[in-house]
Amino acid sequence: MIEVTGVSKRYAQTLVVDDVTLRIPAGGLTSIVGPNGAGKSTLLAMISRLAPMSAGSVTVGGLDITRSDSAELARHLSILRQDNHLPLRLTVKDVVAFGRYPHTRGRMTVQDGRHVEQAIRYLNLEGLAGRYLDELSGGQRQRAFVAMVLCQDTEYVLLDEPLNSLDMKNAVDIMKVLRRAADELGKTVVVVLHDINFASCYSDCIIGMRDGKVLCEGPPQALITPQTLKALYGLDVAIHDLDGQRICVHYT
Ligand SMILES: Nc1ncnc2c1ncn2[C@@H]1O[C@H](COP(=O)(O)OP(=O)(O)O)[C@@H](O)[C@H]1O
Ligand SMILES: [Mg+2]
Repeated sequence: MIEVTGVSKRYAQTLVVDDVTLRIPAGGLTSIVGPNGAGKSTLLAMISRLAPMSAGSVTVGGLDITRSDSAELARHLSILRQDNHLPLRLTVKDVVAFGRYPHTRGRMTVQDGRHVEQAIRYLNLEGLAGRYLDELSGGQRQRAFVAMVLCQDTEYVLLDEPLNSLDMKNAVDIMKVLRRAADELGKTVVVVLHDINFASCYSDCIIGMRDGKVLCEGPPQALITPQTLKALYGLDVAIHDLDGQRICVHYT
């Protein structure tokens, strides 16, 4: 479980995350949705200790993140940031192997090599393993980054907008991989998404944020309603039940 208790983040006089308390259960897939600037990335960055909290506390699988050392935390939790600044003159295989660093500290064993092969297969990257990142399409590169975080083989996997600039097929493929990681590998996946329908169809739980606060949380059936989406985005939407799933239509 990820326990976020009274967490705030202040930049100068502005509170960008405002006293957030959350319990994200272990196992399953939780999506975080909400408008731009809601504080989603800042919250994920604080949970993974990439940004210090102004107030509050976070535990990940019982580990108090401010008290654990970086190497220990990196063996429990991996994160794909919204803007990762990895050098593009790395091959897919190099970047995936980079995910093993918290385990290998630079010395790859045969078992680490197996993890790399597995992650490459999991994301269907076999044919691209020797290519440099700057020789890939945006979707292929994104798949390599997802392989990198899965290769870290942590129980908790956080991904900030992994579907950015992906076409429909690539986006579906990534969501299926994340779903499998939760269902087959027992991982706890937390993902920031903008597409409400992806959140609705693939999540066990959705958290809605606006203005630094959590406005709502719950399973898609409870959360995907015209009222909550109006509260989150200030937009009138229609919700349809389609084959047991809630689908949001926002074209007018
Ligand atoms: N380093 C920073 N300094 C000042 N303000 C920041 C910084 N990082 C983010 N913010 C502000 O915090 C708010 C929340 O940002 P962010 O967490 O990136 O939102 P989201 O991911 O939901 O779009 C925004 O208003 C943003 O401008
Ligand atoms: Mg963001």
